[in-house]
Amino acid sequence: MLIASADAASVKIASRILATGGLVAIPTETVYGLAASLDQESALKRIFEVKRRPSSHPLIVHVPDAETAVRYVRSFSPHATKLATAFWPGPLTLVLPRTELVPDCVTGSHHTVGIRVPSHPVTLQLLRELGTALAAPSANRFTQVSPTRAAHVAVDLGHDVDLILDGGPCEVGVESTVLDLTSEQPTILRPGGISREAIELVLEQAVLSPSEQNSTTPSPGQHHLHYSPRARVQIAAAAEIWKLAKQAATEGKRVRVFASERPKFPCRTLEPFRTTSQDTRSDAEPIDFWLLPQDLHELAKQLYNRFREADRDKVDILLIELPPNTGLGQAIRDRIRRAGGLS
Ligand code: TXA
Ligand code: MG
Repeated sequence: MLIASADAASVKIASRILATGGLVAIPTETVYGLAASLDQESALKRIFEVKRRPSSHPLIVHVPDAETAVRYVRSFSPHATKLATAFWPGPLTLVLPRTELVPDCVTGSHHTVGIRVPSHPVTLQLLRELGTALAAPSANRFTQVSPTRAAHVAVDLGHDVDLILDGGPCEVGVESTVLDLTSEQPTILRPGGISREAIELVLEQAVLSPSEQNSTTPSPGQHHLHYSPRARVQIAAAAEIWKLAKQAATEGKRVRVFASERPKFPCRTLEPFRTTSQDTRSDAEPIDFWLLPQDLHELAKQLYNRFREADRDKVDILLIELPPNTGLGQAIRDRIRRAGGLS
């Protein structure tokens, strides 16, 4: 396994590896992806093996621009055009009827393809250099937390990828919004980096969200236990979160709290970018805590890394307060719920 800091030379190497059937972990603005060239069938199949993902779960196709996307979809509808103009490059995946250029194994034999233009400059450069679309799911094992840094990929999949392109920490930090444009009413299959409100503003009409979806048409790949750390995730309201934390600590559990307000008693604080928790006060409760950033973009950017830290520190219980259900809050709430095994 090789981690290369992303510059023109390593992008060229990555392009060669992909063109000859290798797998490369690529940075995107959302999370790191595990990429294979759309032309390389054996590499595409290897993605499913490496991720240990069922072959029925479709992969997202990444292209450098909307003009290229048109080759892979049968009709780029007026809705698709409006959304691509507004949000690409960016964290929005459009599900549209596909052409024969998209191999069956990418779409799990569905007649549709999920396609997007990522906004990370390194990956855009790679897509242009390669001249072929890239299929890329998040670069983590099935049901584990998505990687938002190159080092996360190295820990998760290190020996199974040919190269990791290090493009720095992901700016958005949660996956793209997946929007189905094949049904009468546009439907959000997975909330993500582009909010429902932003999509509705562009389309000038309401879109359906996951809870309103007809349960007979679930999104393939929306496993309810997704994005899960090993610690038990428990969602708690602000009014009771500290009481629950103290109770769990009394029972001898390793407790960590993600809350919007500081506790009224001393306990160990996790600084925004400190990697280990420390405590200098002997009277502090044995509870680590992260004061949730009020800025939802900052919260999304840090969330998965915080999940990983909890696993590294062998936390037993992660008590989390949900952010408001607006804007990016929808995606964050969705990921926290799934981390807790709820959907
Ligand atoms: O931000 C992202 O979307 C990242 C980066 C790497 O682009 N990718 C990602 O891929 O999250 P993955 O495979 O972990 O999740 C893709 C999701 C699946 O859960 C699936 O539900 C949905 O996208 N999806 C993809 N193609 C689809 C299709 N044709 N129809 C319905 N859903 C689709
Ligand atoms: Mg994923």
